[in-house]
Parts: sequence; structure tokens; C-alpha cells
Amino acid sequence: MASARTPVLLDCDPGHDDAVAILLALAAPSIDLLGITTTFGNCSVEDATRNALRVLALAGRGDIQVAVGAAAPLAGEAALGNYVHGVSGLDGPELPEPLSTPVDQSALQFQVDLLESAHSPVTIVATGPMTNIGLLLTQRPDLISKVDEVIFMGGSTSRGNHTPTAEFNTHSDPEALDVVLTSGVPVRMVGLNLTHQALATPEVVQRMSAMEHRVGQVCAEWMGFFGDSYQRLWEFDAPPVHDPCTVAALIEPALIEWREAFVAVELEGRWTRGTTVVDLYQRYPEMDPNAFVAMTLDATAYWDLVLQSLDTLGGAA
Ligand code: RIB
Ligand code: CA
Repeated sequence: MASARTPVLLDCDPGHDDAVAILLALAAPSIDLLGITTTFGNCSVEDATRNALRVLALAGRGDIQVAVGAAAPLAGEAALGNYVHGVSGLDGPELPEPLSTPVDQSALQFQVDLLESAHSPVTIVATGPMTNIGLLLTQRPDLISKVDEVIFMGGSTSRGNHTPTAEFNTHSDPEALDVVLTSGVPVRMVGLNLTHQALATPEVVQRMSAMEHRVGQVCAEWMGFFGDSYQRLWEFDAPPVHDPCTVAALIEPALIEWREAFVAVELEGRWTRGTTVVDLYQRYPEMDPNAFVAMTLDATAYWDLVLQSLDTLGGAA
């Protein structure tokens, strides 16, 4: 008997790496993508929503419902990531026009309806600022029992990127991450310490380019734009493709080694707001571990999975 598929709600801010995460989720037989909610982050939520719809159109999946989420963080102003992802938030190749429009309800109501009607607990994959998830857990803590886990791309056990210590997603809405970390919902954190092992090297990009369909070629062009940003901003020779690491962990659990740890997010620091503080060695005796933190990636197997998935998806689109 086929094993049960994992029901997934994907909350994202596409964004080049979010776009690959969407395609990976669509391609995986083991994932039942129940819907997508969008958030500000790499670009405005309007642009992120348009981008999500166009990525779905690229895959021929106008059936996947998209709900528009937060335009700003729970506290403070939105600091957008167009400096990395371009004016549109997904600069580079031309994409098809959307096949559908967003659902006529807020991301919060969409998530509530989805969780209330789910037959089994839902995995929430978050690859942008955590605002939508923070709102959900604040407004409807009773629905925590319908959430199997939150696996999010964000934070770091080491340095940041948006600031020297804070990663972009957690810096964008630290209050929302604090809600998630203190809610009691099971949490897995996929931080920069992990995703910087997921580099789209020239060999990876060449394998995308060699695919005989638009999905592969578009991904190669995305890596070109994303790679130029990473070279210009952080002197990377190849771009770290962060967001698909969350989805890949659901498809092939053995890809990543995890460590249980206490994780907090700094809300006050003048220079450190949005920084994730990860206690890998139980240095805070009074603080019990509250998350699993991704530590090591099998990068070869990761890229084999991503590339095989994109090729399958592209061939069928
Ligand atoms: O810091 C990287 C993260 O911020 C990724 O999710 C990227 O898409 C941006 O949202
Ligand atoms: Ca993202």
C-alpha cells in the first residue's frame, strides 16, 4: 500500500529559492500540497502573490489555491528583499501568465479553514517571514493540535545575512518567530548554517540548463540572477538555494542531520534584533530545547533530488 502523503501548507515570499521550493513540492509524490499562502519579504506581498501564481502556471498547476497574506510584520515596518531578488521579486526569465487568481479570503482564514477541515495534522512549511504563521497561532491557538509541525527556513546557528547576525526571514518579523517558538508547536529550523551547504554550483546549473523543457531552463536562469546577487552582495561563487531544503527534508528525511536545541530570537538588541540564539550545548540550564535545528546537509543527494524532481515536473508540465 502506498505510504500516506504528507499534507503541506506552504507559506512563502517568492523569491527565487521559494520558487524552486514550490516546484519541488509540486513534483514530490509524497507531498500533498494543500495550498500556498504568501507574505511580504523578498518583495511586496502583491508581487510575491503574482510570482507564486506564475510559478504554478509554469508547472501547469493552476489548481493549487493561493491566499494573499501579510503585507507587513507584526511589529515595525517591512524591509523588503528586492535588493536580492530584483524589482519583481523574481527577476530573470519571462514566466507564463497566471492560470488562476488568489482565493477571495485572507491567508489567515484560508489557513484556519484548511486546518479545521484537515483529516490529519498538517505540516506548515514557512520559507519567508513568519508573520502569517504568527498570526495563525495567536488568533487560533486551539488549532495547534491540527499542525503536525512548522518547518521553517530562517535564522542561523552562526552569522546572519541581512545583518551581520540576523538572517533575512527572522529579521523581517522576529515577533512572529517568537510566537512560533513559544507556542508549543513542534518546530524544525533550517538556518543559513544548513542552507549555505546547498550551493547551486555551475555543475548544478548546467544540469538545469540541459533539461529539455521550460522548467529546467527557467530554474537555470533564476540561478543566474540569484547567483549574481549573491556574488555582488556576499561574495559567493555560487548561490545558496535556501528554501527547497525545507521541502527536501520532508521528502527525504535522511538528507539532513538535526540537533535538538533551545532556540530564541532577539527582539530588543540595537544591533542584533532578529538574530536567532541557538544553544547547541545546553549553556542555558533553565532553557529546555524547543526545536530541532538542521546542522548537516547531504548536498549531493539534495541536488540529485531537486534536479530529478524538476526534470520530472518539467517533462509533465
Ligand atoms: O535568508 C534567506 C531567506 O530569505 C530565503 O527564504 C529567501 O527566499 C528570503 O526569503
Ligand atoms: Ca523565502
